[in-house]
Amino acid sequence: MDSYVLDFYLDGHWCKLPTKWSECLNKLNLFDIPWLLGFNDQSKCVLPLTLLCLRSLSTTIRMIRSKPFNEQIFSSPYTKHSQERHQFSENLSTGLDHILTRGIKAKKRHEIQQLCKLISTVMNKFDNNLDIIDFGSGKCHLSRILGICYGFKVFCIEAKSENLNGAIKRENKVLKALEKYKRFNVFEEEMPVKANCFLTKENRIDELFGDKITRPHLLLGLHACGSLSNLVLEEFATNPNSHCLVLACCCYMNSELFRFPMSQLLKENTKFTLSISAKELACHAIEKFLDDFSKKELDSLKVHGYRACLEVLLERYAPEKRYQSMRNVKITTEITFKEYVTKATKGLNISIPESIFESNEINDFINQTDQVILFYSLRLLIAPLIELYILMDYRHYLCEQNPVKNTYLIPLFSPSISPRNFILIANK
Ligand SMILES: C[S@@+](CC[C@H](N)C(=O)[O-])C[C@H]1O[C@@H](n2cnc3c(N)ncnc32)[C@H](O)[C@@H]1O
Repeated sequence: MDSYVLDFYLDGHWCKLPTKWSECLNKLNLFDIPWLLGFNDQSKCVLPLTLLCLRSLSTTIRMIRSKPFNEQIFSSPYTKHSQERHQFSENLSTGLDHILTRGIKAKKRHEIQQLCKLISTVMNKFDNNLDIIDFGSGKCHLSRILGICYGFKVFCIEAKSENLNGAIKRENKVLKALEKYKRFNVFEEEMPVKANCFLTKENRIDELFGDKITRPHLLLGLHACGSLSNLVLEEFATNPNSHCLVLACCCYMNSELFRFPMSQLLKENTKFTLSISAKELACHAIEKFLDDFSKKELDSLKVHGYRACLEVLLERYAPEKRYQSMRNVKITTEITFKEYVTKATKGLNISIPESIFESNEINDFINQTDQVILFYSLRLLIAPLIELYILMDYRHYLCEQNPVKNTYLIPLFSPSISPRNFILIANK
C-alpha cells in the first residue's frame, strides 16, 4: 500500500512481493482478476494463506459497503413528522425534480437523494429544530434542495467564490422556474445563506454568520475533502451548539493539513501511520473497477503498464517531470508503447531518443504489463481496508468526546455510483 504503481519498474515492486504470492500470481492472467479480488469463487489456483486472508477481509468490507442502509435505526415512534414539501428523487420522477436538478450529474443526484432522506429522518429526531451548516458546499446543490424541498434553513461555507456565484445563478433560475410552473412558493430568504471562506482552525463558525444562526446546529459535509473533514469533526467536538453531525469524507491525500490519526487511541500507538500513497489508495474504488471490468476492453488496463514504463523514461530523460500527470490516452489493442508515449507527452517538452523504444530493456518491461495490472489489482484489494481504517479512527475520535452520545458509520450511497459512500453520523 506504500508503493505507487508508477514506480513498478523503477522500484522493482514485483520482486518485493512475498515469493509465494508472486509464484501464484505468475500463474494468473487478466481474466482471473475478478476472482483474485473475490468477485467470483471459481478456483483458479490455491492462494497463499496470507493472500487468502487479505481477500477475505477485503470482500467482507465490500459486503459491508454495499449493505443497504436501513433508516429505521434513526426513527422512533415519538418523532414529529417531517416538514418536507416534496421528496426529491434522483430518478427525476416529477417535473419539480427536473427543475431542481438541471446541470446536476447523476452521481450527485444519487448522493443528494440519499442524504436528503437521511437528514430528514435525523432532523425529525430533533423536531426539525436545527440550523444546518453545510461545510464545503460547492455549488450548494444539496443545500438548495434541502431548503426548497424540505424547508430546512441551511448555511453554506465554501472556499471558492466561483462555486457560490454559480450557486446564486442557479438559485435564481430555479426560483423563476418554480414561479413559472406554478409550484409551491419559495422565497429568496429561504435559500441557503452563503459564506465565502477557506476554513481554518482559526475561524469561528458563529462569527461567520453573525446572529443569523439562531438554533443549535447540524453539521453537514458532503465529501468534505481532506482536512476539511478534520475541521468539521473538531467543530462538532468543541462547539456546544453543534448537536448533530452528518459527514461524508473524501480525498484523504488532498492536503498537507490533513490529519490522521485523530483518535487518542491511535495517537498513542505510533505504529499507526499512513503514507501519502496509502491515503491516495483509500480513495480508489474496487466496486467501480469490477463493474467496469466486465464491460471494458482488457486492453485499456494496459495503460498502467505503459505509464509505469514511461516513468522509467522520465526518470532518465526528464526527471523534473516525474510523477506528473501526462495526457490521457485511450489504449486499444493496436496502440504501441511508442505511440502511447508520443500522445501522453504531447506538448510537455519531453525529448526521448527514438532508439530506446527498440531496446531489449523496454521490450522486457512491456512484456511484464500483465504483472503491473495484477499489482494494481492487488492494491485495490487493500483500498477498502484503509478507508475503513481512517473512518473508524474518526468515529473513535467522536466516541472519545465527552458530550457525544451516539455515533454511526453507515454505507449510504451505492458504492458503484459514489465510492466514498460511508457517512459518519453523531449526536450529543
Ligand atoms: C469535493 S467538493 C464537494 C462539494 C459539495 N459538497 C458537493 O458534494 O457537491 C469539496 C468542496 O469543499 C470546498 N473546500 C475544501 N476545503 C475547504 C475549506 N477549508 N473551507 C471551505 N471550503 C473548502 C472545496 O472548494 C469544494 O467545493
